[in-house]
Amino acid sequence: MITFTVNSEQVSFDGDDDTPLLWVLRDHLQLTGTKFGCGIGQCGACTVHVDGQAQRSCLMPVTSAKGAEITTIEGLAADGVLHPVQQAWLEHDVPQCGYCQAGQLMAAAELLKRNPDPSDEDIDNGMSNLCRCGTYVRIRKAIHTAAKLQAKGGNDVS
Ligand code: FES
Ligand code: FES
Repeated sequence: MITFTVNSEQVSFDGDDDTPLLWVLRDHLQLTGTKFGCGIGQCGACTVHVDGQAQRSCLMPVTSAKGAEITTIEGLAADGVLHPVQQAWLEHDVPQCGYCQAGQLMAAAELLKRNPDPSDEDIDNGMSNLCRCGTYVRIRKAIHTAAKLQAKGGNDVS
């Protein structure tokens, strides 16, 4: 039995230790906001926070999550208040098909935690998530807006 915390709630899983965290989140916990893209750690669609760090959950065996605090896109807003990246994404109408965006938001939230005022270069270097719709320009603008919102004291639960 593996026990860990997801979005502030303790959960347990008693299946195969090698099961990727992504499938535990999606199939066992029905947290389907986290997406499966490539399954090989390249696209970032499956990004969640593990003890505050952005991780690709498709590559992480659930056993590695033992005792960890996981945050998924469903837990990024706190007490009904959107995280600054979510507010900024809405303001800039970032998503196109939307498939990659949960992972993009989780990566951006972690980037802003590490670097509250990133330059364009910092964003380009810090965001390795792929978007087949090519929303990169809007993502960059939204991260700058989110940085301003965060500086004004927006909800930062990441
Ligand atoms: S599905 Fe995990 S990196 Fe692509
Ligand atoms: S919005 Fe379609 S893949 Fe990114």
